[in-house]
Amino acid sequence: SSLHFCSISPHHQRSSFGIAFDIDGVVLRGRIPIGNSPTALKRLYNDSGNLKIPFLFLTNGGGIPESRRAFELSELLGVKILPSQVLQGHSSFRSLLERFENDFIVATGRGEPAEVMSEYGFKNVISMEDYVSYFDNIDPVAHYKGWSRKVASKKPTYSTKSIQGFDDSLSGVKAAFVISDPVDWGRDIQVLCDILSSKENEHQPPLYFAADDLQYQAAFPSKRLGIGAFRIALESVFNRIHSKPLECTVFGKPKLFVFRNAEVILRHLRAFSCDGDVTREDGHLPLYGFKALYMIGDNPSVDIKGASQAGSPWFSILTRTGVFRQRENHAEYPADLVVDTVEQAVEYILEREC
Ligand code: G3P
Ligand code: MG
Repeated sequence: SSLHFCSISPHHQRSSFGIAFDIDGVVLRGRIPIGNSPTALKRLYNDSGNLKIPFLFLTNGGGIPESRRAFELSELLGVKILPSQVLQGHSSFRSLLERFENDFIVATGRGEPAEVMSEYGFKNVISMEDYVSYFDNIDPVAHYKGWSRKVASKKPTYSTKSIQGFDDSLSGVKAAFVISDPVDWGRDIQVLCDILSSKENEHQPPLYFAADDLQYQAAFPSKRLGIGAFRIALESVFNRIHSKPLECTVFGKPKLFVFRNAEVILRHLRAFSCDGDVTREDGHLPLYGFKALYMIGDNPSVDIKGASQAGSPWFSILTRTGVFRQRENHAEYPADLVVDTVEQAVEYILEREC
């Protein structure tokens, strides 16, 4: 394989800290590295390019499988990122596999929502894009959408025969997943309202969101509306049409389980990093925990709130390169440390730990 982990010396100093990096507004804006992120990340590897300090990316973004995101990040940031170092908002949808593995489900959001869910093992998933193409006139303004004309002429990648549970009355959908920022809010609000209210007198099919960020930092200078803004829009419309309020489940930061999961993965990464510990003879990870886990984020109500809720050993560092730009610490969700850039954050951590 292309993974080059160095041989581990048992006498080597154990690194008892790990780092979780937010992506948008901390290491990237759009596809552009910010805050000297490539230089900062390089410091976490040794001279031969092997991982020295366990770290991962903990983002609420997504839309492509973790393996592709790892490849993309490696290209943009100039270091070798492993798929296991990428935790996206939708990564924890894996935990729903047992429940929906063979059910007919619809996934929406930018990128390749169906591919993401298929990679997790969901067997009967269709993207919103392909799903709507089976219904004539489902979107009355579709022909005004220059971008979707191209899509409409494209044949769906699925045949309805190959999808178990496909039902052209819109009532066959067992669950809907918003895996990343929806591209066509109007269409998605309409069709999700259709799907979620298709079963009269029955319980609403479950609806899952990969994250709930109201705003985030993209390439544009000011903040952009995120998946949480879409959730509010959908909910407002749905609740005006129906007597029963919309039910949905939200994943991603600041949820506690996301931080717990990140800790487990960081322990695995520590076991394989150069300064890491030796795996026990029984193959299990050593029991000792981390002295410190650093969350470097730009969004106080998402990254900092999450790390604070997770408690010790989490330590939160807020940068001024994204959603947060103030001089003083955030009043409601104060970070343990505020710095200008991710480079300064890494500098602080390495000075404190090494
Ligand atoms: O769409 C991405 C956004 O919701 C947040 O990404 O990396 O800042 O958690 P990130
Ligand atoms: Mg961010």
